[in-house]
Amino acid sequence: MNTKYLISPNFSNFYKFSPKLKVAVLASGKGSNFLNLLNLSFNNELDIDIKILISNKKDAGCIKKAIDFNIPYLTLIEENFNNKDLFEKEIINILKANEIELIVLAGWMKIISKKFVCEFKNKIINIHPSLLPAFKGRKSIQDAIDMEVHFTGCSVHYVEEEVDSGKLIIQGVLPIKKNDNKDTLTKKIHFLEHKILPYAISEAGYQIRNSFKDMKKKDSSLHS
Ligand code: GRF
Repeated sequence: MNTKYLISPNFSNFYKFSPKLKVAVLASGKGSNFLNLLNLSFNNELDIDIKILISNKKDAGCIKKAIDFNIPYLTLIEENFNNKDLFEKEIINILKANEIELIVLAGWMKIISKKFVCEFKNKIINIHPSLLPAFKGRKSIQDAIDMEVHFTGCSVHYVEEEVDSGKLIIQGVLPIKKNDNKDTLTKKIHFLEHKILPYAISEAGYQIRNSFKDMKKKDSSLHS
């Protein structure tokens, strides 16, 4: 067993998707998770087709990564819309126009409304740097240090209306060492995030593709 971290469930392979799973990434920050997904996708290790990056920050690092990999991207600033509803409507329209199957929130620093969640029920996943349900919110890494917990980590979950809630898909756990600070812990958590997010995408994609097949089966049995 790897003693530095623990991942559960222990998925050992990625599902194969043919055609590739159509994914949109929503991100506001540096985009290290996005970059990891780009590499896995371009190396044909993970069968995803990243159709678009949407960012809400003009100079976010993730945008540069989209440019480097020639991935279409859009910067949508909420303040440029009359209200949140119109901002989200624009995002929803873009996701629909691109026939996105799975939306990955990889450091998307915006709360998603109930309407948005309902439009894409069980098709939005989020990565969060704590062992949910502990330490929800934006300061989760510092909160874990302040609470002097011995273990922390990261979680990927389906997105529900309530922030950082929703069914867990996968978690990674690591110990907090005495000499850890916010920077060292953030690095370790990022490393673990890059391990777990691709498995979560694979798992969520499998569920999405299979429920679609089930729907088709049901549909054809109704018509036979
Ligand atoms: C990650 O720690 C993620 O858990 C949180 O935002 C951070 C994004 O990091 N939601 P990056 O932009 O992928 O480097």
